[in-house]
Amino acid sequence: MKKLAPVITIDGSSGAGKSILCKNIAEALKWNSLESGFIYRLVSFIILKNKISIGIKNIHIIEKHLNSYLFFENNILKNIISNKILEKKLMLQDIANLSSKIATLPYIRKLLFDKQKMFRRFPGLVTNGRDMGTVIFPDAKIKFFLDADINIRVKRRVLELHNKGINANFNTILFDMKERDQRDRKRLYSPLLVAKDAIIINSTNSSIEEVFNTSIQFIYKKFKLNLT
Ligand code: DC
Repeated sequence: MKKLAPVITIDGSSGAGKSILCKNIAEALKWNSLESGFIYRLVSFIILKNKISIGIKNIHIIEKHLNSYLFFENNILKNIISNKILEKKLMLQDIANLSSKIATLPYIRKLLFDKQKMFRRFPGLVTNGRDMGTVIFPDAKIKFFLDADINIRVKRRVLELHNKGINANFNTILFDMKERDQRDRKRLYSPLLVAKDAIIINSTNSSIEEVFNTSIQFIYKKFKLNLT
C-alpha cells in the first residue's frame, strides 16, 4: 500500500491559538502546513466578491474561482495563492461569519474535503481547523484539541485584528464568537468535536510558547525525535 505522509491535526474553537501553534510546529518540523479555516474564508470571499448566490447549483462556479487561488506544479497542489491584502480581507468579521454559515452546507464541505486532502505531502502536514482530526485526516499521527476561555479567546482575536490594522470591538467579537461557536459545534455535518484520541490542551492561562512546548514534547515522543 502507498505510504502516506504523516499528519498532525489541531482542532478547536476560534481564538484558541490553533493558527500560531500550527505555524510554529510546521516551522519546527519543516513540514507543510494548512490552515483550513483560510479555505472556508476564501470561499466566502469568492461568494461575496462575485455575488454568487449560495446553492448547490453554483458549486462548479465556486470551485472554478477557488482553483484560481490554488497553485499547482506538475499537477501537485503546492499552496494557496495569497497576499497581505487578501489575508487582511479574509480576517474581516463578515467573512468569518459567512464562513461559519457556509461551513454548515454539505456540498461546500464535500468540495473542500478533497482540496484539503491534497495538502498531505511529504515530509508531513500540520493542519488546523474544526474537523481535521475527526473527518479529514482521521488517521493523523497526533491530534490536538485546543480550547480556552471565551473571554481570553475574544481578547486574543481583538489584539490579532488590531495588529493587522483592523478595528475591532470586544463586545461585537464576543457576540459573533459565541454565535459561531454554537454553529460550529451544533451543525449536522462535521461539527466541532473532540476526537476520541485527541490530546486536549487548554490555553487559557498559557502563553504561545508554553502551548508550543507542551505540544512539541508530545510530537517528539511520538516520532521518537531527540529533544535538543
Ligand atoms: O478557523 P477560522 O476561524 O478561520 O474558520 C472560519 C470558519 O470556517 C469557522 O467558523 C468554521 C469553518 N471551518 C470549518 O467548518 N471547518 C474547518 N476545518 C475549518 C473552518
